[in-house]
Amino acid sequence: MRFFLDTANVDEIRKANDMGVISGVTTNPSLIAKEGRDYAQTLKEITTIVDGPISGEVKATTEKAEDMIREGEEIYALDPQHMVVKIPMTAEGLKAIKALSEKGIPTNCTLIFTPAQALLAARAGATYVSPFLGRLDDISTVGMDLVATIREMFDNYGDIETQIIAASVRNPLHVVDCALSGADIATVPYKVLEQMLHHPLTDSGIEKFKQDYVKVFGE
Ligand code: G3P
Repeated sequence: MRFFLDTANVDEIRKANDMGVISGVTTNPSLIAKEGRDYAQTLKEITTIVDGPISGEVKATTEKAEDMIREGEEIYALDPQHMVVKIPMTAEGLKAIKALSEKGIPTNCTLIFTPAQALLAARAGATYVSPFLGRLDDISTVGMDLVATIREMFDNYGDIETQIIAASVRNPLHVVDCALSGADIATVPYKVLEQMLHHPLTDSGIEKFKQDYVKVFGE
């Protein structure tokens, strides 16, 4: 399983990229709005930091397929080497995914909450599907089951190349479960990446090594 960072904060993206563990970034309208910066400029800057797929979503107000296609082409044109066009799961969204994929533009179908939605997106030609785990957990439905079912379903058919990005990941346990459930990628907020780094015994072990070393060898 690979890691993407789920944020539009360029400082966090730089820090995570420097750790050497992320191979892409996902954004959404809420994440970019939170940064209070220009939408396209933010995406463009992210492509200069991470050399991998960067998901940029069509405007949250766009509903018609033809508008999503036009916006998708604009997003892709920001950096054709890296940009992936994120499109919400609607009938119009599927039409846009189909059209963009026929033009060779990679897409990420977002807001996936059922296996049937994932299958539709895959058949429309989506490069990625993004099942949202945390938001399902929030409504007392086991989000991880969705990832496992999509994995099993896609594996039944050799012609589905759509990759599963586990999204709405809220904690390190989610991450491990994503890997066990066969997600291709987990997109994680920076906070979760930091939580994954730490364990009290690791931190106290580092402190103990330091004290023992300094006692004998000095600073
Ligand atoms: O990128 C979409 C997704 O990861 C959002 O997560 O925590 O807002 O449900 P969350």
